[in-house]
Amino acid sequence: MAKKTIIGLYPGSFDPVTNGHLDIAQRAHKICDQLHIAVVANPSKKVLFSVEERVDFLKKTTRHLPKVVISSFNGLLVDYARHIKAGMIFRGLRAVADFEYEFQMALINRSLYHGIEIVFLVPNEKFIFLSSSAIKEVAMLKGDVSGFVPAVVEKALRKIY
Ligand code: PNS
Repeated sequence: MAKKTIIGLYPGSFDPVTNGHLDIAQRAHKICDQLHIAVVANPSKKVLFSVEERVDFLKKTTRHLPKVVISSFNGLLVDYARHIKAGMIFRGLRAVADFEYEFQMALINRSLYHGIEIVFLVPNEKFIFLSSSAIKEVAMLKGDVSGFVPAVVEKALRKIY
C-alpha cells in the first residue's frame, strides 16, 4: 500500500515569530512530509506586525527546513486545514496556563472538522517562558531580546522601539 503523505499545519499569530515557535516548527517538521506554517491574517488581538511582515520573518527563519511552506489565512482555521488537505494541526504547549484555551480550541476545531488530529508539542524547556507579547513588552522597554527571537525579528523590533 502506498504511504499516505502527512500534511501538517502549524497556525498562529506569530507576532512576531520567537525562538520558541521555531523550536516547535522544527519538531513538527520531523513528523510531516509537508508542513504549512500559517499566519492568521485577521487575529482576534491587536498585532504589531502586518501579515506580510510576519510571513516574511517566518520565510527568512525557516529556510533550513525543506518541507516547510509559509502562508497566511483568513477565517476559520479548520477551513484552511481542509483547503490544504492537512491531516494534523500542531500547537505548542508551554505550561498548564496554555492548556485550557488550547484544549477548548482543539475540541471546537475537531468538532468542526472530524478528519483532523490536533497534536500538542512541547518546546525545549529553554523556551517555556517565551511569548510574543512578553517579547514585545521587553523590546518596548528597551530590553535585550536577542536570545529570544531570530536576528531579523530583533532588528525589526529595534527599528520600531
Ligand atoms: O498564536 P495564537 O494567537 O495563539 O494563534 C491562535 C490561532 C491563530 C491558532 C487561532 O486564533 C485561530 O485558529 N484563529 C482562526 C479563527 C478560528 O478558526 N477560530 C476558531 C478556533 S476556536
